[in-house]
Amino acid sequence: MRTSLSILGLALCAPLSWAQEKIAEPVDFNATEALLEQGIDLSALEEAGLTTRTNSEHPTCILMCTTLALAYKDETYQRGSSKYEAFRKSYWSDQQAEVEPQCVFEPTSAQQVSVAILLTRLTQCPFAAKSGGHAAFASASSIEDGVSISLAKFNQINIAGDKETVDVGPGNKWQAVYAKVDKQGLAVLGGRDGDIGVGGLTTGGGVSLFSSQYGWVVTAWGLILEASTKSNPDLYWALRGGGNNFGLVTNFKFEAVKMDKIWGGPVGWTQAAFPAVIKAYYNLGVNSPSDPKAAAIMSFSATGSALGNIVQVLVSYSEPKVVPPIFNEFAAIPGAIYNTTSIRSISNYSEGFASWPAGTRDEIWTHTSVLDVEFMTFIKDTLFDIAPRTQAQTTGLRVSASYQAITQGMLQNMKKNGGNPLGLADEKAPLLLLSQAWIWENAEDDETVYAAMREFQTKVEERAIATGVNIDYRYMNYANVYQDVIASYGQDNKNRLKKIAATYDPTGVLQRLQPGYFKLEGAPIEHLEGTLYDMDA
Ligand SMILES: Cc1cc2nc3c(=O)[nH]c(=O)nc-3n(C[C@H](O)[C@H](O)[C@H](O)COP(=O)(O)OP(=O)(O)OC[C@H]3O[C@@H](n4cnc5c(N)ncnc54)[C@H](O)[C@@H]3O)c2cc1C
Ligand SMILES: *[C@@H]1O[C@H](CO)[C@@H](O)[C@H](O)[C@H]1NC(C)=O
Ligand SMILES: *[C@@H]1O[C@H](CO)[C@@H](O)[C@H](O)[C@H]1NC(C)=O
Ligand SMILES: *[C@@H]1O[C@H](CO)[C@@H](O)[C@H](O)[C@H]1NC(C)=O
Repeated sequence: MRTSLSILGLALCAPLSWAQEKIAEPVDFNATEALLEQGIDLSALEEAGLTTRTNSEHPTCILMCTTLALAYKDETYQRGSSKYEAFRKSYWSDQQAEVEPQCVFEPTSAQQVSVAILLTRLTQCPFAAKSGGHAAFASASSIEDGVSISLAKFNQINIAGDKETVDVGPGNKWQAVYAKVDKQGLAVLGGRDGDIGVGGLTTGGGVSLFSSQYGWVVTAWGLILEASTKSNPDLYWALRGGGNNFGLVTNFKFEAVKMDKIWGGPVGWTQAAFPAVIKAYYNLGVNSPSDPKAAAIMSFSATGSALGNIVQVLVSYSEPKVVPPIFNEFAAIPGAIYNTTSIRSISNYSEGFASWPAGTRDEIWTHTSVLDVEFMTFIKDTLFDIAPRTQAQTTGLRVSASYQAITQGMLQNMKKNGGNPLGLADEKAPLLLLSQAWIWENAEDDETVYAAMREFQTKVEERAIATGVNIDYRYMNYANVYQDVIASYGQDNKNRLKKIAATYDPTGVLQRLQPGYFKLEGAPIEHLEGTLYDMDA
């Protein structure tokens, strides 16, 4: 096929990476011309009749995929190819692996990402972008009949010469990052579960608890900008929890911290210990300011086996010290059924923590409240009421409710570097971040599980409001397709995010054409239902 497309790669504008105060999309921006400048002439394809030759319902995506394939043959995976199928298998949940994009595009440079975004603008073909692929619901990072952009080739992990920072691409999962920085006695404060991607966790607000410094962002008009406290600081603020609504990040620069080995691991107990464990967890949250090196996640699960209901506390301490005193209350609780705490590297810890198997059906919901013993007990009792009867109706259902304290130290960190949009920093610590994650085997059980989880979530929300412990914030990384995350940040933050989006993406490309995740207006389901891309349609 002839065209004027062949020259890409060498095209004129290598990524423009000047750092300025703030760079808005030009008012007279013309995507056709921007693509021509990159060596891509869509009119040649249109004249060749590619848009009319097909009976597809989505000719614009066929046009986009054809254009990508002509320009970037090795990076474009068409339906039926082995690379296309391998890409689909790389998602964590079955619901996402079932999605069938028109094609997969795996760019190798920020410039190629830029071309892809310009093409979606011109063709109006919807897209999704994938980092680690751990988001659970269908369409979160893949898109039926659209173009799924794999960020896998952005797999750089570069430690700066002065060991102060590490450049990390969204093609990495945390495990790879830790494995590399460990060797230099360093750590970055990222996710705990090594199987999770750097891209989703960071833009969902995960690392803004800590220390990301800046990123390189491909904007809706194809320009590659630096976002930091100095360059485009409003964009930087928005990216620390605003999700994928502002651009696609091709590089994150994290602060590197010196880190020796840590102490930690899981300890499990059965029912008799539940009240004591909840009490100890509450005290750990309250006492956190006295020793912020300590952290723990408490998870209740119904095993459905002879073991019955169990609680696991995953403890960690960022020094190689066995049972630091702040954990004494846990150490005094008798009857632990397992305890594999040890001194280990972060890499070993995060690998061991990847306890949720990929390739299952999954659903997740989240809630935030004040850290409160009575409320934590209510959540546990509600789980153990609903879970066994749902397990009796389904196959291979594993349920868990995980509690994480949001400590005073975390809230203080959120105020650094210009803050973030989460709307949490002025709350009074400690808070409780709840995630319920359930996994099961068969699609025929979907409706039963969804209904049971919704019942659980409704009870939790009603109780929180009734007892005055509710906090509006919902964490994007644990949120369900029905949860309106951006609204939960508060009206002021939402307005500010929308204003920033209007500067960097005035025509709303990243919101309209990338419908599958948390948008600035409404829960994801509102963008997915009733469209050609609705998974149930
Ligand atoms: C059962 C379960 C357990 C979990 N456990 C943990 C846990 O222990 N610790 C934890 O921290 N988190 C946990 N998570 C949450 C996890 O952090 C989020 O799902 C996170 O968003 C996944 O990131 P990812 O890159 O793997 O996801 P992806 O599915 O690849 O991406 C998620 C979203 O982020 C967007 N995105 C990704 N990269 C970029 C980028 N470079 N620029 C712009 N947008 C981008 C994508 O477009 C997509 O919409 C868990 C989730 C589940 C379902
Ligand atoms: C954009 O540029 C193309 C090519 O130069 C031109 O044909 C088209 O009319 C322009 N579109 C707008 C809206 O100006
Ligand atoms: C776990 O085991 C260690 C010994 O390895 C012990 O010192 C500790 O008290 C146990 N319990 C907890 C909660 O760490
Ligand atoms: C972590 O280290 C321990 C002890 O050295 C080892 O037994 C275990 O296999 C390691 N786990 C992982 C996931 O690397």
